[in-house]
Amino acid sequence: MEIKQISEITPEQKKQLSHVLVEAVNGNASVGFMLPFSLEDAEHYWSMLGSSLNNHHLLWVAVENNLIVATVQLILTKSQNGQHRAEVVKLLVSPHFRGQKVATKLMNALETEAHKLGITLLLLDTQTSSTAESIYQHLGWQKIGEIPDYAKNPRGVLCSTSYFYKLI
Ligand SMILES: CC(C)(COP(=O)(O)OP(=O)(O)OC[C@H]1O[C@@H](n2cnc3c(N)ncnc32)[C@H](O)[C@@H]1OP(=O)(O)O)[C@@H](O)C(=O)NCCC(=O)NCCS
Repeated sequence: MEIKQISEITPEQKKQLSHVLVEAVNGNASVGFMLPFSLEDAEHYWSMLGSSLNNHHLLWVAVENNLIVATVQLILTKSQNGQHRAEVVKLLVSPHFRGQKVATKLMNALETEAHKLGITLLLLDTQTSSTAESIYQHLGWQKIGEIPDYAKNPRGVLCSTSYFYKLI
């Protein structure tokens, strides 16, 4: 398994990332999208993201046998007083590769790079009571609290969101 940071998304990578995103949304992961969610919808998202990757928006992929099986993003804060802070978004692991520490490897790579960039505080949010919430706590993230009815899951049910931080 290779973990790499990419600054551009090739057409082939866009297809592979789209499969990972569609699998997550179809599995009811609350990552910003509602069902029905097609491969075309996902490709549109990755096209938009590809054009906004820069020094403030970083993307990692996990590759197994030339296939992207997981991804995560880091968004650095632009404000002058928050240059030490960044937000982790869209940690997604293909269902066939879950439970094999792929997310752990991605988060380790992200933290290493964030540290090099002078980031000392990471933030993220995730759906309350989700598997992801348990995993973040397992990975050393501190839960701050929950906001009820923050976002709908892909099936349209309003769910609470949990907020986390990690000092690195
Ligand atoms: C959340 C997600 C990224 C986790 O990916 P993963 O590759 O399966 O996670 P890992 O295998 O690295 O597990 C990390 C740690 O959590 C533990 N863990 C795994 N599943 C767990 C669970 N259900 N509850 C508690 N801990 C769990 C693992 O044992 C591992 O700890 P260890 O290293 O001590 O063994 C994956 O389930 C996913 O893509 N979900 C859908 C998308 C999503 O919800 N993303 C989060 C958006 S905020």
